Amino acid sequence: MMRWSGAKGTLAVGVCALAMVAGGAGAAEGQEALTEETYGPTMSEIRLIVGDAELHVDARYWPELGEDLDKLFPMFRQIEAFWTARGNEDAVGRVGTTIEALREIGNAGIAMEQGRARAGIRALRGTCQSCHDAHREETADGYRIKSGS
Ligand code: HEC
Repeated sequence: MMRWSGAKGTLAVGVCALAMVAGGAGAAEGQEALTEETYGPTMSEIRLIVGDAELHVDARYWPELGEDLDKLFPMFRQIEAFWTARGNEDAVGRVGTTIEALREIGNAGIAMEQGRARAGIRALRGTCQSCHDAHREETADGYRIKSGS
């Protein structure tokens, strides 16, 4: 995977990073497979990065948005692999919708279109919600994978 730690403040490099991301760079190769124990913590990390992405869209920090997406793509590839291994096609399909939303945010970032990027973040959150409604349940001390999912 390419790193773009040098991208800060250099719009051209950042846009290039976004192009890479939108092109689907970010396979889960070399990453550890998620387990039921590491799934929740990974989701919590995802939530924080999505928060960062929203701030970066608000601030028009496009290179930083590229860095956020560069983290989110491989994480959702891991989530996808988790559900694929579980044989839950519905959840795999929902992850696919989430990845599509990430691509759209990446394309909006490349075009530096703030309204479109904001709409993309809203659409992204909608995809989180739909999977949570379908496959997540609340417990006394947090959340877990719905039984049967
Ligand atoms: C494919 C289904 C799916 C998608 C898509 C998904 N989630 Fe989740 N998420 C789950 C499930 C199932 C759980 C419950 C597992 C757990 O918490 O251990 C969960 C739990 C969480 C939690 C609670 C973690 C904890 O255990 O405290 C957060 C936060 C979260 N998701 C954020 C997000 C965000 C933000 C997105 C979208 C950017 C997202 N999720 C997309 C299935 C999904």
